[in-house]
Amino acid sequence: MVRARIIGTGSYTPRKILSNNDLARLVDTSDEWIMTRTGIKERHVAGDGEATSTFAYQAALKALEMAGITAGDLDMIIVATVTPDMLTPSVACLLQHKLEAYQAAAFDISAGCTGFLYALSTADSFIRAGNCSKVLVVGAESLSKITDYTDRTTCILFGDGAGAVVLSREQGQQGILSTLLYADGSCSDLLYMPGGGSAHPASPETIAKRYHYLKMDGNKVFKRAVKALEDCVTQILEKNKITGDQIALLISHQANLRIIQAIAKRLELPKEKVFVNIQKYGNTSSASVPIALDEANRQNRIKKNDLLLMNAFGAGFTWGSALVRW
Ligand code: UT7
Repeated sequence: MVRARIIGTGSYTPRKILSNNDLARLVDTSDEWIMTRTGIKERHVAGDGEATSTFAYQAALKALEMAGITAGDLDMIIVATVTPDMLTPSVACLLQHKLEAYQAAAFDISAGCTGFLYALSTADSFIRAGNCSKVLVVGAESLSKITDYTDRTTCILFGDGAGAVVLSREQGQQGILSTLLYADGSCSDLLYMPGGGSAHPASPETIAKRYHYLKMDGNKVFKRAVKALEDCVTQILEKNKITGDQIALLISHQANLRIIQAIAKRLELPKEKVFVNIQKYGNTSSASVPIALDEANRQNRIKKNDLLLMNAFGAGFTWGSALVRW
């Protein structure tokens, strides 16, 4: 059986840290409210001169080093992001240049916080179709650049960083077993950034209206995310004839601790099988699952042949899950 196996992981978060107490000096909030409602204690944010490709590059270097291959071995680079350095060219092309991986095809995927799972699934398809043998998949974001630090309903949530994996075409039972992807574009107005695209290109008016910042109806997103993810993880297990107790580690998108706990409860997973790092990074959108995966890997929380269940939900709406045998 040909599979896409994860042979290296890496992650990077910027040095600058914004704590809950820092935010309480900017808006009417408190450490206690943020911790209770979200589980977030602090988040890392871009410093001067740092952009999404800065983080993607650092995470990619670490993943390549662990994989034991060079950038020259890559056939393809896919970057999931909603905060590219610029509208065009893609972060993947900027990264290809930084890595000097000129033989690799390169493109971005925009699928909100589910971007990494969309990118992983795409890479898996290229590999199993026989079109690629080594693919770099990165989730990278600079959400601080589109966060409105006068809006307490969103600014407490988001952080910056990147995570990366190297996938290799291999024979055997290890690798990506299955992915499920979903979208519901009818909910696009519940989590979006109105300005900067072709509908509302930058103008003094769009800036005055604060169109270049994320807008979210958090409570509606929360309710839909819990339902969609509970259904999605149940479906992927049923599809693969696997029961919750066979999962060694749950790696969820780190958007809200209460969402992660709801999924763990549905699967009846004990605490030690649920990876959580939201307290350190907040919601880093496409970067959150690969940062968590890399941390779990480097903390030796994953053993050979372990079953990992990943899931994410985000703007679009988009959501999905992936089942991996390590
Ligand atoms: O990654 C993409 C997907 N995104 C998500 O999954 C995010 C999903 N949503 C959430 O995580 C939660 O909805 C939030 C953390 C954003 C909000 O938590 P909530 O329990 O849904 O709170 P809420 O929006 O219902 O607001 C409850 C109260 C409101 O006050 P009133 O109307 O009850 O007086 C808010 O104005 O909390 C108030 N509030 C705050 N208070 C202190 C909202 N934000 C804050 C804040 N500090 N930062």
